[in-house]
Amino acid sequence: MKENIAKEGFNSKIGAIAAAAGSAVGLGNVWRFPYVLGQNGGAAFLLVYVLFMLLIALPVLMSEFSIGRKAGLPVLGAFQTLAPGKKWYLIGFAGVLCAFVILFYYNIVSGWTLMYAYLSATGQLASLDESQINQTFEQSSQDPVTCIFWMVLMLGATGFVVARGVEKGIEQYSKILMPILLILIIVVCIRSLTLDGASDGISFLLSPDFSKLTPRALFEALGQAFFSLSIGMGTMTTYGSYISKKQNLPQAALSVALLDFFIAFLCGLMIFPCAFAFGINPGQGAGLVFVTLPNIFNKMAMGQIFSVVFFLLLVVAALTSSISLLEVVVTFVKSQFGLKRRMSTLVSSITIGILGIGCAVSPTLFDFFDKISANVLLPLGAFFIVLFIPLRLGKKAVREEMEANGTPFKLFNVYYFLTKYIVPLAILLIFTNSILSWMGYGLFD
Ligand code: PFF
Repeated sequence: MKENIAKEGFNSKIGAIAAAAGSAVGLGNVWRFPYVLGQNGGAAFLLVYVLFMLLIALPVLMSEFSIGRKAGLPVLGAFQTLAPGKKWYLIGFAGVLCAFVILFYYNIVSGWTLMYAYLSATGQLASLDESQINQTFEQSSQDPVTCIFWMVLMLGATGFVVARGVEKGIEQYSKILMPILLILIIVVCIRSLTLDGASDGISFLLSPDFSKLTPRALFEALGQAFFSLSIGMGTMTTYGSYISKKQNLPQAALSVALLDFFIAFLCGLMIFPCAFAFGINPGQGAGLVFVTLPNIFNKMAMGQIFSVVFFLLLVVAALTSSISLLEVVVTFVKSQFGLKRRMSTLVSSITIGILGIGCAVSPTLFDFFDKISANVLLPLGAFFIVLFIPLRLGKKAVREEMEANGTPFKLFNVYYFLTKYIVPLAILLIFTNSILSWMGYGLFD
């Protein structure tokens, strides 16, 4: 059942980081992070998020890169090769299932970004006032036909790139588009921060109120950290297999995590001052970005141009992440059913499209998949991935892999301690506590 994939690799150090950051930076940063933060009280959540990123998510990312690069194969093949004949390969299967589930609703939100790019380009947003902008989102996001139409377009674009073989495409695209996205976010941030009434949004983001830190908030922060870094399901294991042995792996992981966090933070600075300035409820959920941003653009000089470019770049950010998700499913279908890449892509995309219709017609299903994947499947996946390091790969082998380029990893013992004890324990604790709190026995309520 080994995956039959020609060995491909990223061309350059910066290309590898850009591609992994292309997977990490996506709707999770611009769309999901602000709304989850808004629902969980702001600054205190942000602090916990930073801690989880550094102490939990980063070690998982390093572990995934190491497993992938050591095996030189995408996720399923990686676990099969490093632990032949053992049940560890189930992690690979679970990862594929998870990518599949995330794609159901991720494509819908990607579709919304494309729809917004279109609405801006045709001037349909520019003439609206605040309440009309709100209505536009509510109507279009709840209309199944509109959602399915835009979702199919995005899925088609994702499938098109994956079918052609993504490696060169991803690397090249990411190197150019990621910096542009960053610059645009900074420009929009500056406008948002200079709006009248922006200060409430800034203090929402920066003055912590620890009474808001419920077990649920911890749970959501953990899930968001995993979702945002694309970890816990093998995408980064697959990308790890494309990274050259000459590259400093811990440094690459740190760069991706810092970049991902920095962009999420900037998105917070872009959204909240504006949301408060326009009296938009920061805890309103999935529509937050789609309601706040058009308001900023309508207040900016040349706002329509910025709006089109911004939503188009959001489309690209969504696309580079979707590609990494679809790649996991396609490599699986290819290896399991012996199909060619193009056919595997077609079969996978059609199946995902059909099942994704469920999320377009039912907001409850949409929310369910959104929550279950980030908050349950990814932490569980990460739990088993990190256990693989001490239980199967071993300290010496993982150290060799991390130092394969000849540079000693000075903090290796810290990484190993976190991976062996803290990460699995923290996941277990946060998980159990949330389940108990749902049942009415919260330990730390
Ligand atoms: N990290 C992506 C984002 O923030 O939008 C979403 C994602 C991509 C999650 C790939 C998981 C994954 F494997």
